[in-house]
Amino acid sequence: MRVSLKEHYDLEPSVELAEATREIYDRMDRVVSPPDWAIYAPYVVAINKLKKELGAVILAHNYMTPEIYHGIADFVGDSLQLAVKATEVEHDIIVQCGVHFMAETSKILNPSKTVLIPDLTAGCSLAESITAKDVEAMRAKYPGAPVVSYVNTTAEVKAASDICCTSANALQIVDALEADTVIMTPDQYLAQNVANASKKKVVFWAGSCIVHELYTAEDIRAYRADHPDVAVIAHPECTPEVVAEADYTGSTSGIVDWVQQHHPKEAMLVTECSMASNIADELPDVEFSKPCNMCPYMKKITLEKVLWSLHTMSAQVEVEEQTAAKARVAIQRMLDLSKKLGL
Ligand code: 13P
Ligand code: SF4
Repeated sequence: MRVSLKEHYDLEPSVELAEATREIYDRMDRVVSPPDWAIYAPYVVAINKLKKELGAVILAHNYMTPEIYHGIADFVGDSLQLAVKATEVEHDIIVQCGVHFMAETSKILNPSKTVLIPDLTAGCSLAESITAKDVEAMRAKYPGAPVVSYVNTTAEVKAASDICCTSANALQIVDALEADTVIMTPDQYLAQNVANASKKKVVFWAGSCIVHELYTAEDIRAYRADHPDVAVIAHPECTPEVVAEADYTGSTSGIVDWVQQHHPKEAMLVTECSMASNIADELPDVEFSKPCNMCPYMKKITLEKVLWSLHTMSAQVEVEEQTAAKARVAIQRMLDLSKKLGL
């Protein structure tokens, strides 16, 4: 890939280019070293030029590395914001810097557009944990209960569901449904966290996120014992025990907003590592505690693969038409309800 790209673009590390792109680098110089930026800068320049020439837009998730998040993304956000943005952009080509279910969601919402993902194997442990057949089995077990599926699912699972949700609207979506019993798939912890805050009976699939399930309440308590002023901010894919230890729990963008608003002296972001890196520069007075856990799927997306993706117009995400039509209903219901609820 690199050898082939070098025939078309000047990708040699360049101190001059690093200096010329200082304005971009300033957004991440707390977390990216100057030698690394000299390596990234030629890719960032090539991608931004090609993106313009092709009329492409880059939608990037909050878990992307700083050189992607600050260097090449046109829009960054959580899953809900990216889905909403996918309905608004006018470009014919969308490059999804995130995992496969996010690109699939963009394609479902834009069937006539080209949606590219720089690495087709960027999956998600939650999306891989459940099939459409499993959803039907849950329905048979709880007749009449609506199925709310997290967007972290395949198009087939979305198509088998009544409505989607994200971490930003899960509780409100469940509460807005008329039924007393709601089926939530596939994240058992998101479902339990919703159940703890809702009056509804929530039954759930036993999937989990390999990143967030690693955090334990004991680890957080031990850290707090040594750092009493630390603000603990968790993602709702964490276990209810971890969420109970947190000062705030929310979607990835909710987490960013909370830290920006509260400016804690020290913050522990109980989520993916890039979250802290991406906001470290704009919040120089906040110390972000480590360690954190990395998502191996999100980390498959690199500058080199983004350039390759634009250069070759691959890999194009496709969703079978009938499946897409049904999945679109579940996603659109979520978007409409979210809008109505002011989320
Ligand atoms: P958000 O919707 O909160 O960005 O979460 C997506 C995700 O995959 C978290 O692991
Ligand atoms: Fe999936 Fe977890 Fe990675 Fe998010 S962090 S994409 S839920 S594996």
